Amino acid sequence: MGYHDMCAAVSNAGGLGTITALSQKTPEALRSEIRKCKALTSKPFAVNLTLLPALAPPDYGAYARVIIEEGVRIVETAGRNPKKWIKLFKDNGCFVIHKCVAIKHALTAQRLGADMISMDGFECGGHPGEDDVGNWVLLAQAARKLRIPFIASGGCANGAQLAAALALGAEGMNMGTRFMATREAPIHENIKRALVAGDEKSTTLVMRTVRNTERVFKNGAAKEVRAIESKTPGDFTKFLHLVKGANYKKSFQETGDTESSVWSCGQSMALIDSIPTCKDLIAQIVSDAEKVMSKRLPGMLNSRL
Ligand SMILES: Cc1cc2nc3c(=O)[nH]c(=O)nc-3n(C[C@H](O)[C@H](O)[C@H](O)COP(=O)(O)O)c2cc1C
Repeated sequence: MGYHDMCAAVSNAGGLGTITALSQKTPEALRSEIRKCKALTSKPFAVNLTLLPALAPPDYGAYARVIIEEGVRIVETAGRNPKKWIKLFKDNGCFVIHKCVAIKHALTAQRLGADMISMDGFECGGHPGEDDVGNWVLLAQAARKLRIPFIASGGCANGAQLAAALALGAEGMNMGTRFMATREAPIHENIKRALVAGDEKSTTLVMRTVRNTERVFKNGAAKEVRAIESKTPGDFTKFLHLVKGANYKKSFQETGDTESSVWSCGQSMALIDSIPTCKDLIAQIVSDAEKVMSKRLPGMLNSRL
């Protein structure tokens, strides 16, 4: 998903598009991806560096060097132990957004020098962590505890939610799942249609027993992982063949088979009923948020006067 064309489409539509560094097999491939994105947009965009547990961790240093050398101004770090990386990016003049799922981690990132937090609630597609706190509480808490700005992430898909996020103290919102169901998303139409057809109960959690929980589409492959985990909890080797990235890449990029691989998506599926362009989607969200703020909310104040 986080490839140059999608990233540029989101930035050109008025959002902040993001390239996921580790979607590229090598740091040099990331360099080329960043250059292709620059050719498609003159607007700002970000690069995400995800620090997840891995048997053989990628060469994060080399990816970070490319991000800096290519003059990317906004970096999103996510995952564990961001200390070294936040410092490196800050020392090189980048604006660092750290994405995390717990207030404790947000406070740590703030202390480490992050400029902004992306608060990822339990509703989110991908990795919601192990604390299971939804955004209704998480964002209100972030507003009370953080002194740096934050954005709402997880479960976000429409304008009323944007207005609510702003009311809760956020500066904006981050969307993953919603952008998957856009015309420009570089994934198979069947996956997009599954997102339109799904509802708030169409996701499930896998890898709970290895404390690397992931919210994914509730399909045959995900149910199989859960069944294995309930028989042999904590044994990654028993289900590794089902969760490896190559499987979902094949579904997304080649077959469009929604059932045979484990793929991330969030509960915001319940709110997705169309496959618009990124431009139309963002315009609709902004205009709906403006309507809430300029009509519904002032109307409530006026009725009390
Ligand atoms: C298919 C998919 C892939 C994702 N890959 C990454 C990733 O590589 N790194 C990361 O930090 N977050 C990743 N995320 C999480 C998103 O960046 C974002 O935090 C999340 O999607 C927000 O929740 P939402 O899906 O409810 O909008 C991914 C999400 C999805 C749906």
